[in-house]
Amino acid sequence: MSDSVGPEREREIFLDGIAGRTPLVPIDAARLEEKARGVMSANAFAYVAGGAGAERTMADNRAAFDRCRIVPRVLRDVSTRDTSITLFGERLPSPLLLAPIGVLELVHRDADLAVARAAAAERVPMIFSNQASVPMEECAAVMGTSPRWFQLYWSKSDDLVRSFVARAERCGCSAIVLTLDTTMLGWRPRDLDLGYLPFLEGKGIAQYTSDPVFIEGIRGRGSESTSGNEGRAARLTVASLRAFASMVRRYPGALGEKLRSGEPRRAVQRFIATYSRPSLTWDNLSFLRELTKLPLVLKGVLHPDDAREAVARGMDGIIVSNHGGRQVDGAIATLDALPAVADAVAGRVPVLLDSGVRGGSDVFKALASGATAVCVGRPWVYGLALGGEAGVRAVIRNVLAEFDLTMGLAGCASVSAIGRAPLDVGR
Ligand code: FNR
Repeated sequence: MSDSVGPEREREIFLDGIAGRTPLVPIDAARLEEKARGVMSANAFAYVAGGAGAERTMADNRAAFDRCRIVPRVLRDVSTRDTSITLFGERLPSPLLLAPIGVLELVHRDADLAVARAAAAERVPMIFSNQASVPMEECAAVMGTSPRWFQLYWSKSDDLVRSFVARAERCGCSAIVLTLDTTMLGWRPRDLDLGYLPFLEGKGIAQYTSDPVFIEGIRGRGSESTSGNEGRAARLTVASLRAFASMVRRYPGALGEKLRSGEPRRAVQRFIATYSRPSLTWDNLSFLRELTKLPLVLKGVLHPDDAREAVARGMDGIIVSNHGGRQVDGAIATLDALPAVADAVAGRVPVLLDSGVRGGSDVFKALASGATAVCVGRPWVYGLALGGEAGVRAVIRNVLAEFDLTMGLAGCASVSAIGRAPLDVGR
């Protein structure tokens, strides 16, 4: 790892400034979101920016970072800094990953492909979303040897789970992230007010429509809808026609065949009927454990007892996450939950954190509170909205630059020195 990520990024931005060029994306997270809002549709912005209920948890995620203060140490020779870490045996240049985010076609036409290119260029692992807009194989194909993981939603079909995991293995994913906090969609007022759910337009289901098991399911017997909403959705309006056109456009294959077969519509219906399994329990994990040798990481753990259970069940890692405040309004902020989870795990497996990370200083605070690495979410989505691949790269570089500078200025020359470093967690 270069010892000057932060100063180099500053130099680059200031030299651009002398030449009359301002940064592609605002550096400040709030301004980044505001500017992205200006180029996003109302539906897309609501879907990305919104949270559950009164968005208290979304606010608390931030408040927890705001309360937590770094107490810098001085005179510790930070002229050379090493931001690298090792995660599941893989050396990574920084403790940063891109959180899995679905339905990126809402944000930019290149969607996941732009993100895959950006992640590879910056050597930051991308976690492919189960709800991606581009099949994982296409993303993997533009990433070379750069690290990627796959995030899984456990659907009602074990065959589909098996197929997704096998595909992830084939396209070089080095871990499987099982997201546990979204067995049902959270109550999200911004989306509800607009009556807007992208999946009903056939968006964000590319992992499914590219999957042989899923396709077999909509062609074979038992392919009829079980959603119970078919009659309502079929009412002919301009909006429903637009949704139908969107479904057809997104479905693979020749237009005539798609219209004749009715598959695009059945794919959406089958997705709605099968995408999640609220009946999951700890006992289901053995199925996944036997399915793959890849590290299994549970995302959405907030209670120390769940973290202990995960380790006891042979899981390889944990992501302390509340889905960016999109699921349980009033759920504990992740930075507040982290220390107890890290204590419970006691170093036996890596503990990652997401939800509310907006810059490099937040990354430092999470590591100093017991995280091994951190996932960034919404900020890179806003970078994607503003500048495609270049926008995502700019956001990653800004976060990493601030992290490098924070680390050095706080008196830490390496990630291991951050440990449980000097924090003042005021109340
Ligand atoms: C998400 N997140 C998410 N998580 C997941 O496991 N699979 C997914 O498909 C998605 N999709 C998704 C879409 C959008 C628009 C958002 C904002 C989030 C949750 C994501 O991985 C992460 O937990 C949060 O984004 C973290 O919160 P912040 O830091 O973005 O506020």
